[in-house]
Amino acid sequence: MRISNPPQAKDLMATARSFGNYDLAAALADLIDNSIKAKASRVDITFEPEDSDVVVRIRDDGTGMDFETLVIAMRPASANPQDARESDDLGRFGWGLKSASLSQARVLTVVTWCGGIINAARWDIDNIDDWSMEVLEGTEAKSLLAKPQASKSGTEVIWTRSDRVLDREVGLSFDDSLTFAIAHASQRLSLVFHRYLAGETDRRLTISVNGRRLRPIDPFMTAHNATQTLDAEVIKTANGSVISIQPYVLPHFSKLTVEEQERLGGPEGMVRNQGFYVYRNKRLIIFGTWFRLVPHGELSQLTRVRVDLPNTVDTEWRITLDKSDAQLPEALKRRLQEVVKRFNRRSFSVHRKKGVSLDLPEVQSVWLRYVKNGQIRYRVNRDHPMVASLLDMDSLFGKADAVLRLLESYFPMDKFLADANEARVNQCPTSTEEFESLVHQCVLNFLQGSDGEFEVDEFLKFLRDVEPFSSQWTYTESYVRKNTAKKWGMKNGL
Ligand SMILES: Nc1ncnc2c1ncn2[C@@H]1O[C@H](COP(=O)(O)OP(=O)(O)O)[C@@H](O)[C@H]1O
Ligand SMILES: [Mg+2]
Repeated sequence: MRISNPPQAKDLMATARSFGNYDLAAALADLIDNSIKAKASRVDITFEPEDSDVVVRIRDDGTGMDFETLVIAMRPASANPQDARESDDLGRFGWGLKSASLSQARVLTVVTWCGGIINAARWDIDNIDDWSMEVLEGTEAKSLLAKPQASKSGTEVIWTRSDRVLDREVGLSFDDSLTFAIAHASQRLSLVFHRYLAGETDRRLTISVNGRRLRPIDPFMTAHNATQTLDAEVIKTANGSVISIQPYVLPHFSKLTVEEQERLGGPEGMVRNQGFYVYRNKRLIIFGTWFRLVPHGELSQLTRVRVDLPNTVDTEWRITLDKSDAQLPEALKRRLQEVVKRFNRRSFSVHRKKGVSLDLPEVQSVWLRYVKNGQIRYRVNRDHPMVASLLDMDSLFGKADAVLRLLESYFPMDKFLADANEARVNQCPTSTEEFESLVHQCVLNFLQGSDGEFEVDEFLKFLRDVEPFSSQWTYTESYVRKNTAKKWGMKNGL
């Protein structure tokens, strides 16, 4: 026997408020996704305070919907997430319009027009009775618009009783909270849709918020002539989808104007926002994370990697309902890790050139020990400053790297083990001169990259975390201090 057991309409819709993890910006972004899919070239967002409420309108000039489409669009779970989508479709679950809107407001009204006909439909979560939905036609529907339609077709999504738009806990007045919320959401949308706003897509998109047009925020500063574009990579997944990876190294802070720094979130934001920038159909879904492939902060703060996903990899990446998150498939982890290692060297050298210490959490050792599949392998640390500078110098030919690999691969292991058993091995520098010449080489490297400026304290800070100086610190420090003036012919802080 089977019995019908549908959910209670009002309970399910109340739950839908917390599907995904929408904040205001993410909710707006999800609606803009729909507008893009509907071929809109403009999206105008307005916030109108009304008593203690705020009415939010998101209007586009897209294709609009006829009555049947509107009814389906308003239906919870209006599509099957497993269905294949057009390659430019930013939707997935058939929930976006509903759950994004209800995450911010208790009432969702959609007014839509095309072919001279206008319709509207509404869900009010305090007034849902057995899935019956309010619909309005013609002049009634039109009266819901604050301004008459300006395009042949289009859609206006209206949020009322917007109880979650404002974060009132911060102790600000209503007006201040609203201003704050709008500024924050605008900033986020400028970033999330920057490639659309900049016209990198088939159709340029214009987004305005309360009449102010959003300018794109390019997290890679590609227009800046000090931005380094590193080699791009392409990864093919099992189902034939193509993922492209494009690393960038941002200009050093000192090369940016205050305004440029601010647009990137200020110096603090630049650190926090290092990492991968993952785009799905050119729309930014996640940013500022290394997916735990590398500890945060260990890599250069200036490295950002653009990862472009088509919407055909949604299931592998486990795109979440609010599209604010995705998880890295295991198979791709290793490839990305290799990519990160390689370009990080470049980014590191940008810092070094300015003579700025990276404040690495750990010492940069000469050798690294890897354990993989139960096997142990020693590798020369490509990020060690001396090694990195050699590799940088030789990055065109790759000879230095080939030599390192040669040394690593053909280490005389058998002889070494036999000797080590008899405790006859001593690899330490045999004389202080040898050690001093190492420091000297480091000074030269440091000078080369520092535009002729030499700060003894900066240099020492830099050496502090580098093997072998870190382990022989007292000696290193006194040696450097004694010699900066004399032997190396420079005054303190020259
Ligand atoms: N602004 C819009 N213009 C035209 N059609 C829209 C608009 N917003 C939503 N729709 C329609 O509503 C459907 C459901 O949207 P949504 O709930 O966001 O789910 P999804 O985007 O996953 O399909 C869309 O597939 C589209 O047909
Ligand atoms: Mg959608």
